Amino acid sequence: MIRFEHVTKRYADGTTAVDDLSFEVAEGELVTLVGPSGCGKTTTMKMVNRLIEPTSGRILVEGEDIAETDPVALRRRIGYVIQQVGLFPHKTVLENTATVPHLLGWQRKKGRERAAELLDLVGLDPSVYADRYPDQLSGGQRQRVGVARALAADPPVLLMDEPFGAVDPVVREHLQTEFLRLQSQVRKTVLFVTHDIEEAVRLGDRIAVYGSGRIEQFDTPAAVLGAPASPYVADFVGADRGLKRLSVTPIEPGDLWQPPVVHLDDPLTKAAARLASDGARWAVVLDDADHLHGWIPADAADAADAAEGAEGAEGTEGAEGAEGAEGTDGTVRDHARRMEAWLPVGAPLKQAFSTMLQHDAGWIAVLDGERFLGVLTPGRLHEALRRSIDADAGGIARGDVNLQTVADT
Ligand SMILES: Nc1ncnc2c1ncn2[C@@H]1O[C@H](COP(=O)(O)OP(=O)(O)O)[C@@H](O)[C@H]1O
Ligand SMILES: [Mg+2]
Repeated sequence: MIRFEHVTKRYADGTTAVDDLSFEVAEGELVTLVGPSGCGKTTTMKMVNRLIEPTSGRILVEGEDIAETDPVALRRRIGYVIQQVGLFPHKTVLENTATVPHLLGWQRKKGRERAAELLDLVGLDPSVYADRYPDQLSGGQRQRVGVARALAADPPVLLMDEPFGAVDPVVREHLQTEFLRLQSQVRKTVLFVTHDIEEAVRLGDRIAVYGSGRIEQFDTPAAVLGAPASPYVADFVGADRGLKRLSVTPIEPGDLWQPPVVHLDDPLTKAAARLASDGARWAVVLDDADHLHGWIPADAADAADAAEGAEGAEGTEGAEGAEGAEGTDGTVRDHARRMEAWLPVGAPLKQAFSTMLQHDAGWIAVLDGERFLGVLTPGRLHEALRRSIDADAGGIARGDVNLQTVADT
């Protein structure tokens, strides 16, 4: 879909920004170009939409040599998203999004409908945001408009140059998640530039690790993390690449541990017995529909059980008897604790790990939609990571990934 053949770019001052570059991005594939500042990423990208002309070599887009294509016509087939989004300040969000359809001479109504559709797709409710101006948006929302605008004319190719580089890390992670969801729907051919290796491995189907002006390794994220092609790549992906692998390994149902499960309306005595028979210190609490409600610690079940027993005994002496008897009917509902730490199955292990840290939780629940699947514990997380290493075709020496780091942190 996008093919570089021996492309070199030398600037007038003699700087060789890109040196004999050859690679291909397949249709519907997302390739991230990652490397330190000044290594030639932006130059590579701008040659695709002819904002920069190569010194030698050629670039094909959809099989066509772009040197022989009209640059304006070419750019209409290529969506472009940059860090300084470049929204028109005096135009509304909807008008900004409809810019390209407008330039292409679409009927106004059709262009606006398409723009509203796109805003929805990037998570901006058009009924709320369509009429706002760019300065009435947060940084993350402006980036979303930038993405919507780039997609408005439905170009087959998308170029993205550090699009999420200027927003804070939390917003960036949201934007990445949304973009992955979006890409799974629209399946554009995407060249995505970043200097952030974590972003590169999270988003890329394949990643190209740049040295200066050259690609040092071009492979899947798992392969680059698992088997760096050179000391340079190993150094760039970092000594903690075992940890980075957490970002590219999804939680699978087989990774989960099955704790005892009780229901909200179970009598406390039953829950206590269930916990005792498992020798477990806590149980997961589900509601009638088997959706996750929370958890109950064994001591809450036991203690409440015992206390109610005592109350009941006292009650036999007088009028409180009735109350005491009610107490023995206590249900899990009265002692269940709400659960904050949960994740959808398929979320990256890294998110599981950081959720554990954030909630100071020894385990987190994993859901499929609303259905409870099981829990991930640090031990299970460790096993999942080991699974991903074993599954890695290229293979690497075991000692190479410091699993201890993960287990100890
Ligand atoms: N217009 C230009 N004239 C001369 N040198 C340039 C020009 N644009 C970029 N460079 C140089 O080319 C190299 C690659 O730049 P660039 O592609 O912007 O890198 P990146 O996007 O990876 O940070 C750098 O050394 C940069 O200084
Ligand atoms: Mg750049």
